[in-house]
Amino acid sequence: ALGILAATAGTAPAADPPSGGGDALMGRARELFKPLPATLPVVRNNAVTREKIDLGKMLFFDPRLSASGIFSCNSCHNLGLGGVDGLETSVGHGWQKGPRNAPTVLNAVLNVAQFWDGRAEDLKAQAKGPIQAGVEMNSTPDRVMAVLNSIPAYQAKFADAFPNEKTPVSFDNVAMAIEAFEATLTTPAAPFDQYLEGKADALTDTQKAGLELFIDKGCAGCHNGVNVGGHDYFPFGVVAKPGAEILPPSDKGRFAVTKTADDEYVFRAPTLRNVALTAPYFHSGKVWDLRQAVAVMGSSQLGATLSDQEIDKITAFLTALTGQQPRVDYPLLPASTPATPQPVF
Ligand code: HEM
Ligand code: HEM
Repeated sequence: ALGILAATAGTAPAADPPSGGGDALMGRARELFKPLPATLPVVRNNAVTREKIDLGKMLFFDPRLSASGIFSCNSCHNLGLGGVDGLETSVGHGWQKGPRNAPTVLNAVLNVAQFWDGRAEDLKAQAKGPIQAGVEMNSTPDRVMAVLNSIPAYQAKFADAFPNEKTPVSFDNVAMAIEAFEATLTTPAAPFDQYLEGKADALTDTQKAGLELFIDKGCAGCHNGVNVGGHDYFPFGVVAKPGAEILPPSDKGRFAVTKTADDEYVFRAPTLRNVALTAPYFHSGKVWDLRQAVAVMGSSQLGATLSDQEIDKITAFLTALTGQQPRVDYPLLPASTPATPQPVF
């Protein structure tokens, strides 16, 4: 990671723009980032079909996957709010406050692994977590099966989505369907994507200056690629650990996954796509202002005190990462029956 950093931090200033086509900055950006394709991403070990997507959408919005009948995935990953809940840390079953800020589900399919510490390999593995987590939905696979099997319309939807399977209604298939729906939640055509595709005026001059700083200061060493992050793990505090008010000592991040001392306080560098929509910031959710998050990154990751002007420019660039939000029609969910397990608190 530090090798990439050094390589990016020291690069020469942009040369004069070439005549015709893109400018020099565009050329540099194209080496570090990729535009988000408008097509559906390929999902490993899960053939995405229309039927699976439709079912996954219903499940994503169905609060009956939670024991209380109150929390759906959308409660904490609100698709009208950039795929987050806008809380410092999420609130779930029994009004309990969880330990971490909810990352966005938008473009999550493009991340190397799921959660702040990467403990779930992919979205199908991830989806089983919150349904069972005591502070989130507090249900069990058995209870979810009892709910879905009590509703004939769900049985039919699972049979359509998983044809030729002996037991289409299964906890594994709940996760597969949700993953298929989540694969549709990408946000192409952000101003930055248009710029990478050759539209030189898709970014304002301030945003271009911010992009240049983002590359030259070294931000792009950790936030790069198609998701402008989301692909690798780094210590929060490479140069200087932020104070306990931003980096609470109790959450050691990836250390809990790998049990390696080197991984204490290591977290996945998040995607910065749509970051202007997803305050508050960091796994602790302690920072509400994107400008402050940029300043913290400067000092903690790069040992740089960014000037107010630099912070403004970089922040302006980050707003150019807001893409086309998925337009999701609220799904109609089939009614419960007398056999449906009743909510428990
Ligand atoms: C993390 C999806 C329910 C709160 C995630 C991630 C995904 C996701 C994809 C990882 C994103 C990333 O790492 O970039 C879902 C689905 C749900 C669901 C499909 C329904 C089955 C909930 C609920 C809550 C919640 C109900 C709040 C009560 C969180 C939090 C994290 C997270 C706090 C971060 C946890 C950590 O990193 O340790 N969710 N979520 N989620 N979600 Fe959900
Ligand atoms: C988090 C921007 C440099 C690694 C973030 C966040 C922003 C950001 C806005 C919060 C995103 C969110 O909560 O959704 C920047 C900028 C940088 C920069 C503008 C340059 C000034 C770096 C570098 C590294 C890095 C060089 C790696 C050495 C991380 C990590 C997190 C993060 C690991 C997650 C921290 C946590 O919450 O635990 N970055 N970043 N960033 N960034 Fe950076």
